[in-house]
Amino acid sequence: MHSYFFPVRNLYMTSSELEKTAKSLVQRGKGILAADESNGTMSRRLEAVGVKANEENRRLYRTSMFSTLGLEENVSGVILFDETIRQRMDDGTPIPNYLIERGIIPGIKVDTGAKPLAGHSGETVTEGLDGLRERCEEYYNMGARFAKWRAVITISKNLPSEASISANSHALARYASICQEQGLVPIIEPEVLMAGNHSIDDCARVTTTVLRAVYSECKTQGVKLSGTILKPNMVLPGSATQSASAKEVANTTSQVLIENVPGEVAGIAFLSGGQSDFDATNHLNMINQISNNHPWPVTFSYGRALLADALSLWASSQIDSAQSKLLHRSKMNGLASTGNWEAGLEE
Ligand code: 13P
Repeated sequence: MHSYFFPVRNLYMTSSELEKTAKSLVQRGKGILAADESNGTMSRRLEAVGVKANEENRRLYRTSMFSTLGLEENVSGVILFDETIRQRMDDGTPIPNYLIERGIIPGIKVDTGAKPLAGHSGETVTEGLDGLRERCEEYYNMGARFAKWRAVITISKNLPSEASISANSHALARYASICQEQGLVPIIEPEVLMAGNHSIDDCARVTTTVLRAVYSECKTQGVKLSGTILKPNMVLPGSATQSASAKEVANTTSQVLIENVPGEVAGIAFLSGGQSDFDATNHLNMINQISNNHPWPVTFSYGRALLADALSLWASSQIDSAQSKLLHRSKMNGLASTGNWEAGLEE
């Protein structure tokens, strides 16, 4: 036996396990609930609705959302944060075990955040590769079967730089290969931000460059694409000044993805990125309606577009209404993921 031995989790067994997990995450009519805000972000969101930010309140909020009856009908997986995956439901059941019992796959955010990119003012590189193998192993043993890593790309007059695209794509591919080695399906999230006054064409151009860089790095690192999910931004004009019709957003987004995302990728699950609930659902629905020729299922992995209103209701002690709101949004997005949503259903 080699004296040099890494805890490599049955590489030959996991590739079919990875594909199975990836397929269940994007199974028809279902998407992912992103509840993996870092403690800093979650605390800001709690304070914004008048709730004291502490570990117990973050647990109370998350567990009451996860207890929503029927959530599993349209939610295949939930992305957790490190603090949350270690917490318990009110009856003492560890949160990942509870989700598994409900038929929901637990996932985990494994990046440690977007940090300033040296020498490139206004840009970031997402960190977290150090110790990632060991953390993935621990999360797998706690029940997680998929992971998330979010890279952030900013558009402005002179951005993004080649350095930011290259550093972030390289990190995403390194992350993805470590996750796969450890039996976790990597969600690859290169988010081109909506903030700014750029045009939809600028967003299409930058998203194209970023996706090409990401898949080129994945190829170099030997990432098995059939055991990955892409979590992209929709192709939108900058939120500061511009607007575009839903049809234009859907057509452009679909075209950019068809041209740049390899067909082997198990599925696409969009982030909502600050879009309104209505827009996030309408756009997803239209993307699925206009294009029958996508080689992958196209669904949601929303945070704010599923939870923002539910959080406000929960904060004012309207727990039942908060859960109904989350259930409604997941149903609407479940329908949109098959192109069967209609605006009239929102009433
Ligand atoms: P939003 O849908 O709120 O953009 O969050 C999704 C997510 O997980 C961002 O990393």
